Amino acid sequence: MSGAAPLRLVLASANPDKVAEIAAVLAGALDVELIPRPGNVPDVVEDGATLLDNARLKARALVAATGLPAVADDTGLEVDALGGAPGVYSARYAGEGVTYADNVHKLLIELAARPAGGGERTARFRTVALAAFPDGTDVWAEGAAEGVIAHQPAGDAGFGYDPVFAPRESDGRTFAEMTPDEKHAISHRGRAFRSLGAALAERQR
Ligand code: IMP
Repeated sequence: MSGAAPLRLVLASANPDKVAEIAAVLAGALDVELIPRPGNVPDVVEDGATLLDNARLKARALVAATGLPAVADDTGLEVDALGGAPGVYSARYAGEGVTYADNVHKLLIELAARPAGGGERTARFRTVALAAFPDGTDVWAEGAAEGVIAHQPAGDAGFGYDPVFAPRESDGRTFAEMTPDEKHAISHRGRAFRSLGAALAERQR
């Protein structure tokens, strides 16, 4: 039996879908005890210039509030015909406090306005997953999923831009037409957290 204690990590995300996915992936990679984000920790303003900056901002705020190691992630959708937009602004593409549907609507309108309806409509989700430690160090990993933006939404599963994102590694279905397991096997976040889990397991040895 190993005498090493499990790594205790506070999770920055309060989104139940993401928490379940992250917990499953990390628990498969290392001996970890995941602690939900305490209710009294305010949201940080995600005003970093990059996904890495934002993931670090979120994780560091939790380390400061709890004194424990913390894990955060940040995701952006990069659409080639839009020069990589919405990217780091994906959550607020159509403005502050908008719905997922508002963002999807804006994306489809912007693409339709491009020459040839946005050309090949290639895009990718990119996620940075980061663990920050009280000693000031951090460990991070990136994951991406390549695909195309569909001409209209399809499917009810998932969240965000899932109804209009058809990953290259599928049969033409959007992420919103897949089961959670199908999505996570090839998703940006699944990949980022599997890599982070491997890096944390290495650090724990
Ligand atoms: P966050 O950094 O994970 O909060 O993601 C920023 C924004 O990207 C979200 O508000 C969603 O609109 C979008 N997003 C993040 N992950 C996904 C995903 O897995 N599918 C679809 N949209 C996503």
